Amino acid sequence: MLTKRGNGLSRRDFIRIAGGTLATLGLSGALTPKLARALEKAAAGRPKVVWIHFASDTGCTESFIKSDHPSAGELVLDILSVDYHESIMAAAGKQADEVLAKAVAGKDYICVVEGGIPTVPGHGMIGGREMLDIAKEVCGNAKAVVAIGSCAVDGGVPAAKPNPSGIKGVGDALGMTVVNLPCCPVNPEWLVGTVVYVLTMGKLPELDKKGRPLMFYGRKIHDNCPRRTHYDGGRFVEQFGSKEEAAGYCLYKMGCKGPEAWSECPKTRWNSKESWCIEIGSPCLGCSENNWTDHFGPFYGKLADIALPYGDVTADKIGIGLAVVTGAAIAGHAVLKAVKGKGEDEKK
Ligand code: SF4
Ligand code: F3S
Repeated sequence: MLTKRGNGLSRRDFIRIAGGTLATLGLSGALTPKLARALEKAAAGRPKVVWIHFASDTGCTESFIKSDHPSAGELVLDILSVDYHESIMAAAGKQADEVLAKAVAGKDYICVVEGGIPTVPGHGMIGGREMLDIAKEVCGNAKAVVAIGSCAVDGGVPAAKPNPSGIKGVGDALGMTVVNLPCCPVNPEWLVGTVVYVLTMGKLPELDKKGRPLMFYGRKIHDNCPRRTHYDGGRFVEQFGSKEEAAGYCLYKMGCKGPEAWSECPKTRWNSKESWCIEIGSPCLGCSENNWTDHFGPFYGKLADIALPYGDVTADKIGIGLAVVTGAAIAGHAVLKAVKGKGEDEKK
């Protein structure tokens, strides 16, 4: 079990944490005192969390320990009682098995799952037990299950074809409803925001049809992208290292999957809001979507069936740097409306 130092947070700490979390949730800062009080009350009960790992590279834990609103330390040691987490707890071997058995017996915890679940017998075992059986027991006894990162959501990279181990996401493998927080890795602010939401509101956030909280996955990257004016204007990067890349043009032709990826990456950002994929010059790879490695491969391949501004043929002919053609605004508007309509359909 992790060392507990008790609830050592001051009222000022809770105000700070509440302010940071509200920004992540996209709510008004005026709610800070209210959220701080609710969070303080919830933390007094030290809600239990059991965090289990299956087929993954532990990247989501790496991502989580870099959270800062609140920090992972505050969350793990002062707000929650993380009763089991293989990567950061001291126990190992039989002792770890005993800790897990004790944590699960209470049936009073939120289960966080990192990694996909191998469903072919013998392809994924811990301590002589099938991962699938461990998942059935630990998730089945939990008050709520949160699947973090693409691997836990739908198998992720380990489930890429040919997937000989039959790796599946938690909801699919167990046939149960879970909160899905995809991306590779999970954005720590979305995990923390979901946990804080559940603690303070006493219910799950509103989810889309893929089980993703709408507050974090409710809009397409393409609709919030700072390069969108270049897309609309027909200004594209066609080669890395070019002057168009230096000018920050749209990355669509370099394989950007932003038009089909639903997530708040442009707003939440990564690494304490330092930057995010498209801002540093990488096309979005679409990791917020199911089956992203197979569906969106190759990474730098242009998306098919996405209408460019002014129509695909015309846009390719426009070439680099020519922003406006006669009638483009009218035609572009019509095409963009069609693209938007397609996106709304996907969402439904
Ligand atoms: Fe941004 Fe990608 Fe859309 Fe271009 S295609 S505007 S880079 S999300
Ligand atoms: Fe993934 Fe695209 Fe965001 S690659 S992290 S969904 S910008």
